[in-house]
Amino acid sequence: MVYQATVSAPVNIACIKYWGKRDTKLILPTNSSLSVTLDQDHLRSTTTSRADPSFTKDRLWLNGVEEEIKPNSRTATCITEMKRLRANLEAKNPNEPKLSQFHVHIASKNNFPTAAGLASSASGFAALVKSLATLYQLPSTPSELSLIARQGSGSACRSLFGGFVAWEMGSSPDGSDSLAIEVASREHWPEMHALICVVSDDKKGTSSTSGMQRTVETSALLQYRIKHVVPERMKLVSEAIKTRDFNTFAKITMQDSNQFHAVALDTEPPIFYMNDVSRAIISLVVEYNRVSVDAGGPIKAAYTYDAGPNAVIYTLKENAKEIIELIVKYFPQANQFRDPFGLFGENGVQGKVVD
Ligand code: ADP
Ligand code: DP6
Ligand code: CO
Repeated sequence: MVYQATVSAPVNIACIKYWGKRDTKLILPTNSSLSVTLDQDHLRSTTTSRADPSFTKDRLWLNGVEEEIKPNSRTATCITEMKRLRANLEAKNPNEPKLSQFHVHIASKNNFPTAAGLASSASGFAALVKSLATLYQLPSTPSELSLIARQGSGSACRSLFGGFVAWEMGSSPDGSDSLAIEVASREHWPEMHALICVVSDDKKGTSSTSGMQRTVETSALLQYRIKHVVPERMKLVSEAIKTRDFNTFAKITMQDSNQFHAVALDTEPPIFYMNDVSRAIISLVVEYNRVSVDAGGPIKAAYTYDAGPNAVIYTLKENAKEIIELIVKYFPQANQFRDPFGLFGENGVQGKVVD
């Protein structure tokens, strides 16, 4: 008998950014966050898990290279937690094979750059937890699995859902209420698109984990943000999503990206995730919106940047083509942009409409 499961999970890109932990072991955040899960095939992790009595230890391969699973590491925690759920199921159903007692081999591949600020830890740990849930045939809901994925990488908890997703920070010290919930389904707002502009696919200099830890330790601005800014923004952006109010959604998304990068700059020593091309894309989006608003029109695009230089531009489908053309026009490197559905290039800005 072969016990094996393969699943994939997509990345999610936050409109209200998670940046800071109040508990680094359980991965409990200092603020709630909200994101959009990208639902096409271009930014996904695909993970296969296999359980077998002949295996002598748990092992993980990431993009073909074996990574050591250190005791008490995040990967180890996710595997242990999933085995615990399986053991509970086996206790209730004595006929089930005792998979919880076998070691697992897990192989995962990202079809986009790893650790480059495109949320590979989100799709990666969501896929890992989902693959084990499938292998173990657990009846768990996405919110239940989000509690475990969260302990792999905070942002991963949001990738258990499609569409518009909130990670509620919770207040319980054991983390039992720090989980992801659906704000609205993908179908609720099908016109919403995300354009990914890959400015660089290099590995980032400061990982999200160490960057946010340093921010928690040194930034006064972060304390202001988590107390006085994020709670209100969570309400406003959830409401904007529910009422399909792109203007409000866009405004808050851009403000929150700006504040996250301000908080990174307020860290000692300062962290710079954006580069000159990232900032030029911001100027372009600002100008594009200004022209529209000055003519009495709507805000048409919202930029947001995670912990890296790559831009994600949220827009409604009707404007996606215009924005791609604009980026191609203003970024000489975008001459590389031959196929609007090709994603990553050696250099320069490339675009892909992900819907
Ligand atoms: P990113 O911006 O890509 O999320 P992070 O610094 O947050 O970068 O996390 C990158 C780390 O996430 C990797 O070094 C690896 O440990 C983990 N990771 C990425 N992809 C996977 C995957 N498919 N499966 C398991 N872990 C992964
Ligand atoms: C800027 O989830 O990658 O993308 O919990 O330490 O693994 P760890 O960090 P991670 O941080 C993501 C930060 C962000 C914002 C966001 O996704 O909300
Ligand atoms: Co990450």
